[in-house]
Amino acid sequence: MPIHFKESSMTFHLFNQKFSYILKILPEGIPVQLYFGAPLIDKENWDYLLESVHRPMQVAYSLEKPELSLEHLRLEYPSSLSGDMRPGAIDLLQENGSRVVDFQYEGHSIQRGKPSIAPLPACYVEEDQEAETLQIRLYDKEIQTELVLSYTLYEDWPVLCRNARITNSGSQKLVLNKLMSMSLDLPDDDWQELVLPGAWARERNIEVHPLHTGSQSIYSLRGHSSHHYNPFLCLKRPDTSEKQGECIGLSLVYSGNFLADVDVNPYHTTRISMGIHPYTFSWPLASGESFQSPEVVLVYSDEGLNAMSQAFHSLFRSRLARGEFRDKPRPLLLNSWEGIYMNVEEKKVLEMAQATADLGLELFVLDDGWFKGRNSDRSALGDWVCDPAKLPGGLKNLSEKVEAMGLQFGLWFEPEMVSLDSDLYRNHPEWVLHVPQRRLSAGRNQFVLDFSNPDVVDYIATAMEAILDEAKISYIKWDMNRSLSEVYSSASSPEQQGTIYHRFILGVYALYERLTCKYPQILFESCASGGARFDPGMLYYAPQAWTSDDTDAVERLKIQYGTSMVYPISSMGSHVSAVPNHQLHRKTSLQMRSAVAMFGTFGYELDPLLLSSQEKAEIQEQIAFMKKYRKLIQFGEFYRLQSPFEGNETAWMVVSPDRKTALVGYYRVLQQINVGFRRLKLQGLLPDALYSISNKEEMEYGLELERAGMVLSDDSSSENRNTDEGDYLARLYLLQAQEPE
Ligand code: GLA
Repeated sequence: MPIHFKESSMTFHLFNQKFSYILKILPEGIPVQLYFGAPLIDKENWDYLLESVHRPMQVAYSLEKPELSLEHLRLEYPSSLSGDMRPGAIDLLQENGSRVVDFQYEGHSIQRGKPSIAPLPACYVEEDQEAETLQIRLYDKEIQTELVLSYTLYEDWPVLCRNARITNSGSQKLVLNKLMSMSLDLPDDDWQELVLPGAWARERNIEVHPLHTGSQSIYSLRGHSSHHYNPFLCLKRPDTSEKQGECIGLSLVYSGNFLADVDVNPYHTTRISMGIHPYTFSWPLASGESFQSPEVVLVYSDEGLNAMSQAFHSLFRSRLARGEFRDKPRPLLLNSWEGIYMNVEEKKVLEMAQATADLGLELFVLDDGWFKGRNSDRSALGDWVCDPAKLPGGLKNLSEKVEAMGLQFGLWFEPEMVSLDSDLYRNHPEWVLHVPQRRLSAGRNQFVLDFSNPDVVDYIATAMEAILDEAKISYIKWDMNRSLSEVYSSASSPEQQGTIYHRFILGVYALYERLTCKYPQILFESCASGGARFDPGMLYYAPQAWTSDDTDAVERLKIQYGTSMVYPISSMGSHVSAVPNHQLHRKTSLQMRSAVAMFGTFGYELDPLLLSSQEKAEIQEQIAFMKKYRKLIQFGEFYRLQSPFEGNETAWMVVSPDRKTALVGYYRVLQQINVGFRRLKLQGLLPDALYSISNKEEMEYGLELERAGMVLSDDSSSENRNTDEGDYLARLYLLQAQEPE
C-alpha cells in the first residue's frame, strides 16, 4: 500500500519507488507539509522536519501557544487571515462579513483507486490497484463547513494528483471567492521556474527564471487556458538538466482561467499554489452545496526534465485521454484550411479529396467555410447547417462520396461562438455573453455564446447531432477562436455572475461529454486559434489538439519542443503546409517540413491539386513511412536531445517500448561553414544491442551511441563544396537493433 498512516505521530507517508510525500496533522488539527522529494525509508515519524522556531514579530497561534506560528509552518492548505501572512488557498466570505476560517482535521480515509470528480475532467485508473487515494477531512465548526483534500498516488508513476472540495453543511449563505486545487510549501527557494509562455503562432516557448523573493505567477484571465501561459509550471534545481537533477512539474487539468503562483518569503521558503483564478471567480455556496476544484497533477523527478515529461506523456496518453482513439495510431489526414481557406466549393472539395486518396492518406478534413452563409469571418457562426450554395449535394452526399474514395471524412465546428450576422443571433441575441447597455468587445469579428446556460449548450448539441446523424463523420475539429470578455449571463441572477467563467467551461465540458459519449467512433481534435487551449482538460475529451496555427517547420521546432515538456506526441496535431509558408513566408524543403510534422499526429494542410508530380511522389513516400512508423512515434518514449531555444540545431528521438527501434530527428536551421565536428548523444537504447542506422554503414552499440554519440559531422565541417545541403536541413535516422545470430 503506497499510503501509510502513522497514528502515533498523525503522519501520512505517501510513497512509491519514485518519491515520498509526507504530511502530518498537528495537535491543533492543522495539516502541515514535512517532505516532498526522492523516496525516504518509511518510519513512524519525521517530527524533526517541522522546524518550528520562535521569530520576532511573528503572530502566534494563541496566547497559550506563543511558540506556534502559522506563518512559519509549511501548511498543507493555508487560509491566511488568521496568522499565516502568505497567499492563502481559500477565501470564504461568511454572513457576518468575515473571511477568517479555521479548518481542522476531522478524519481521513484511504482507499484503493481514484474517485471521479465529474463533471470535471481528471486522470483516472483502469483498475483500482493502480492507485490509492487519501482524503483528509477538515472541518470549520463555526460555519459547519467541510473541506476535503484529496491525494491520489499512482503506484507506477511518479505522480500525485491533488484536488480540494468544500461543502457547506451549515445554514449560512457563504460565498467562495477562492479555492485553489492545491498548495505546497517547500523548505527552500533554491529553484528555477520553468514555464511555457507564448502568443498566437508561437505557443509554449520554454522560459526559465530563477526564483526571487515575493510572488511570481502565470495565469489566464482570457476564459480559456490561452496561448500566453500554459497551465503548467515546473520548479527545477539550478543544475537540473534534461538528463539529471531534481524537478517538480505541476499541470492543472482545467481549460479556463487559472492562476499558478510561486511565492518566496524572506525566510526562503517557497509556496506553490495552483487552481482556478480567483479574480474572476465568486461562487455562492448555499446550505447543502459543494464546490469541487479541478485537479492538479504533480510529477516528481530526480532524473531530470525528460523523465518528468515522460511521466506526463504516459499518464496523459493512457490515464487522461479516453475513448477508442486513445491507444490507436492516428489517421493521416489532409486538412483543407491552408489549401482553400473559406472558399468551399463542392467540385473543388471532391477533387481535393480524390487527390488526398491518391496520395495514400486516410482522412479528409473539411475545415471552416462549409456552413450556411460562411463567406468571411464576420458571418454564420452559430448556424450549423450545410450551405447549399457551396455544397449543393449536401454533407451526407459529400461524406459518402469521400468515403467511396477510401477515405474518412472530418468536419470543422466552432460550437462556442456566434456571428452577429447569423440566424442564431437574430433569434437569440440574449445568448451572447455581454453586459446589457455596455460596449461589447469583438474578437475575430465574432462573439461568445453563453455556455453557462444549459439551453444554449443543448441547442448547439442538437444542431451538431443533426449533422453527425445525417452525414458520415469520423473526425471533428472543435475550434475556439476568441477570448472571453464582458462575461455576464442574462440567464443568471446578479449573485451568480461570479460563477459564469467557470460555468462556461463546465458547459464546454458538458457538450464534449455528450458528443463523445454519443459518437464514440468520432475522433475529436481540439483547437483554439492554434494552441490557445492546449491543456489537460481538453485532452480528456479530445486526444489530440492543433498545436499551433504556425505551420512553418522552423517555428514548429520550438513549438513542438516546448509542448513536449508536458504533452505526449500523440496529442500534437502537426501538418505539412505549402511554401512559401503562409505565416512566415519562409521556404523550407518538403523533407524538412515532413520531418518536423512527423513528430506528431501527421497530416498535410495544403491544396493537393497544386502539387508537382515530384512532390506527390515524395509525399507518397512520407506517407508510407508514417504508416509504418507512426505507432513508434506516437506511442514510443520521447527524448529531447538538443534544444531549439539554445541554438541553430534541434534534435529529439523516440524509442519503442522494447527499445529495439528508435527514430532520431535532427534539424539544422541555417547552414554553416567550417564549423566544428558534431555528435549527438542518444538516449533510451539497449546498451548492449547492436543497432543498424539508416544512412550509415557502421553498426553501433546502444552504449556507444549514448556515450560517444552518433557522428553528425558533414561537409559544413569544411567548405561545403560537395553538398547541395543548404539552410533548413533535416535528417531522420532510423535505428534497428540487430537480432543476435
Ligand atoms: C483557427 C484554426 C485554424 C482554422 C481556422 C478556421 O484559426 O486554428 O486551423 O481552422 O480557425 O477559421
